[in-house]
Amino acid sequence: MRSETAQLIKLEDYKETPYVIENVSLVFKLQPEATEVISTLTLFRREGTETGAPLELDGDDLTLVSVAIDGAALAEEAYEASPEKLVVQTPPADTFKLEVVTRVNPTTNTKLEGLYLSQGIYCTQCEAEGFRRITYYYDRPDVLSVFTTRIEADKVTNPILLGNGNPQDAGDIEGTDRHFAVWHDPHPKPAYLFALVAGDLACTSEKYTTASGKPVDLNIYVEKGNEDRTDWSMDSLIRSMRWDEKVFGREYDLEVFNIVAVSAFNMGAMENKGLNIFNDKYILADSDTATDMDYEGIETVVAHEYFHNWTGNRITCREWFQLCLKEGLTVFRDQEFSSDERSRPVKRIADVIRLKSRQFPEDQGPLSHPVRPTEYKEINNFYTATVYDKGAELVRMIKTILGADGFRKGMDLYFERHDGDASTIEDFLKCFEDANQQDLSHFSLWYHQSGTPFVKANGSYDEAAKTYTLDLEQNTAATPGQDEKKPFFIPIRFGLVGPNGDDLAYTSVEGAHVDGDLLHLTEDKQTVVFHGIGSKPVPSLLREFSAPVKLESTLSREDQIFLMRHDIDPFNRWQATQTLMTELLIELTNGEEPAGKDAFIEALGHMAEDKNLDHAFRGFGLMLPSEQAIALEIGKDVDTDAIGDARDAFSKEIGKALYDTFKRIYDAMEMPATFSPDALSAGKRALKLRCLSYLGAAQTEESAVLTKAHFDNADNMTDRMGALTVLVIWQLAGAQDALKAFEARHKDTALAMDKWLSIAARAPSEDAIAAIRTLTEHPAFSWDNPNRIYALIGGFLGGNTRGFHAADGSGYDYLAEITLQLDKTNPQVASRMAKSFGTWKNMNAERRVKAEAALKRILAADQQLSTDVKEIVELCLD
Ligand code: ARG
Ligand code: ZN
Repeated sequence: MRSETAQLIKLEDYKETPYVIENVSLVFKLQPEATEVISTLTLFRREGTETGAPLELDGDDLTLVSVAIDGAALAEEAYEASPEKLVVQTPPADTFKLEVVTRVNPTTNTKLEGLYLSQGIYCTQCEAEGFRRITYYYDRPDVLSVFTTRIEADKVTNPILLGNGNPQDAGDIEGTDRHFAVWHDPHPKPAYLFALVAGDLACTSEKYTTASGKPVDLNIYVEKGNEDRTDWSMDSLIRSMRWDEKVFGREYDLEVFNIVAVSAFNMGAMENKGLNIFNDKYILADSDTATDMDYEGIETVVAHEYFHNWTGNRITCREWFQLCLKEGLTVFRDQEFSSDERSRPVKRIADVIRLKSRQFPEDQGPLSHPVRPTEYKEINNFYTATVYDKGAELVRMIKTILGADGFRKGMDLYFERHDGDASTIEDFLKCFEDANQQDLSHFSLWYHQSGTPFVKANGSYDEAAKTYTLDLEQNTAATPGQDEKKPFFIPIRFGLVGPNGDDLAYTSVEGAHVDGDLLHLTEDKQTVVFHGIGSKPVPSLLREFSAPVKLESTLSREDQIFLMRHDIDPFNRWQATQTLMTELLIELTNGEEPAGKDAFIEALGHMAEDKNLDHAFRGFGLMLPSEQAIALEIGKDVDTDAIGDARDAFSKEIGKALYDTFKRIYDAMEMPATFSPDALSAGKRALKLRCLSYLGAAQTEESAVLTKAHFDNADNMTDRMGALTVLVIWQLAGAQDALKAFEARHKDTALAMDKWLSIAARAPSEDAIAAIRTLTEHPAFSWDNPNRIYALIGGFLGGNTRGFHAADGSGYDYLAEITLQLDKTNPQVASRMAKSFGTWKNMNAERRVKAEAALKRILAADQQLSTDVKEIVELCLD
């Protein structure tokens, strides 16, 4: 949305609509440049609304053709219409039918919101406020209505016509070369869940029978030629449906479940009722073009959108401030699904890496906001890691606090009590309170108070008294709009690890509520004393990452290495490794020679070869924290070049020191004869590639040859891309040849070329911006497709820290330039890119000056900014 006076939307201003929409009947006469939409709404005046109160409907960029009430055209003075609004001054009756005809242009819709064409396929994206770009409506989630949709289109170019709900009717339109289909969705829904698709699509189908015996047709529609790349997404869908029945008791509720994959899509996917629309990146997979991470991503996103059918669609949000009600909960559900399907600890590590790399920076900078915000200017800016990923952590904490049974009871009550509602976080929490007779009011602060709590732990052992004392402290820095912070309710899972690696039992405890291995930290400071501790323990805190906090431990390096080897909690074994790596890297960045470095490298070698550990786990254990993660840890006056140098040097040092170990693991790994995306095989590939990357970092002649051979012999994308990355990042002999070979092989597969673009964007370069500019000219790149932009530009901003944060400000200048450019066509994508400015305040003075100037240049530009970009830039400058 473009407007000079973007207004602040506030939660406290929430009011119900004066009218209720009972029924919606839509007719779409699809034409590429002039689609007519006939909307017939059955409305009635809500109790409490005064008679004749005006009816005000939302629009965005609409052309009104006609408006009538109960069959009679409205006189001009009876209504007011603009592209943004339709106001009927005095509706004539308590119940009436409003018939509105609008015209829209799908071809020129570059925002990819509302109705648009992607590769000749008509599709829609309505969340959050895209429906108002189709017709005038109460475009807000608390207006639920029953939709019937008739789609008319050319038979040859659009043989497939899809809508929400169940198919009701279809046929030819006599005397024309057009046909129609009618879809009816019996479940009342908000407009953001509306969807329509028309095009010449290929389809794969399966039959599914729900737990109670109801048949469902499952269909996945893709661009023709891609139909042999849907096996994995179909398999993921079926497993998701089964899992939701088993774990949450939730069944599907329509006769068909349709998925459509399109190539131009702003985000991952959308849970429209009965008609999920996906970015094709999250549907299409085969071994030659998709990596193991892609397979995992598909499984997750397919499950996520399917799970929304209950958490999002059957129970939706009262307003957009409640977004985490559906997103946080649904992310939690998809994480649990993947944990059950794969290795739980490995999944947990992956999710925490994601949280720390996306949400922590957000929460420790100018874009920090509560999981449930209270104000915004542009809702599209709030589909954030905080709402999604931290939102999921809050649900996880509820489960941790209440236990699995208590959690399930609360969820059951939520489904029972709120099915069909537009709900709030308060409603949600109340269900857990009522089902468990527990007070969650202190816990609920997590939804309202932003920022990452820092928890400090200091332990001491009293040999004579056999007590172990833990001094705990929490502190949350001020965040925008919240200067004073109250203490959070932080569930800390823990163990006191004895000398032989077993957890020590305690006889009694004082100073905190402690239940088994769960401690409740509820105050700013708490001293917890454990009695009956027979020998000096090493505390293992925040096991399973039981709360989204930053733990500052005062453990010695020896104790960390001890946990890395012996903790019974795999998550904390990994965490100990990461903590050590981070500490060492920061000292190296500061030009110091860290104590205990050799002992750590030795321990790393042991872990790499530990056959008792999952391959995937070992792969994660070997992974150094990213440059951004180190930057965040340093927190202020960051010099990204120093970080990059230190990290490169440390990789090289580890590579050299453990060269033989890595080579041994690499050579000994037994791989299945044919590719399979299962977790075990994927874990083996990941570990093998991690070893290869250290060998590559050592930059020996042998390792260059080995890496190039790995690339040449790869029979799947994971290995091909992994080896290519090593060649390019470490600038090994053969890198250029490999880039060319990859391009030749995949030039016709856009999703594969995205990987090539993102690797190229990370390549070390004297003039990174010149390199990126050249890449934007490459035939594989296009400014019109979000996936290409995310791959190349996103790959640069997120993966080329030296380039983006170059001290001369060239990276910031470039980001300002493309933000302005993209804002003219696709504000959502532009603002997503602009969010990379979110860490600028952590940089050193030299860089801050440049970043601030670039941000100010965006605001001062001689063009009308979208509310999307304007809000982000203003928040960054605040
Ligand atoms: N609800 C979608 C999901 O599954 C995402 C929609 C994102 N919409 C947006 N305007 N950014 O998470
Ligand atoms: Zn979602």
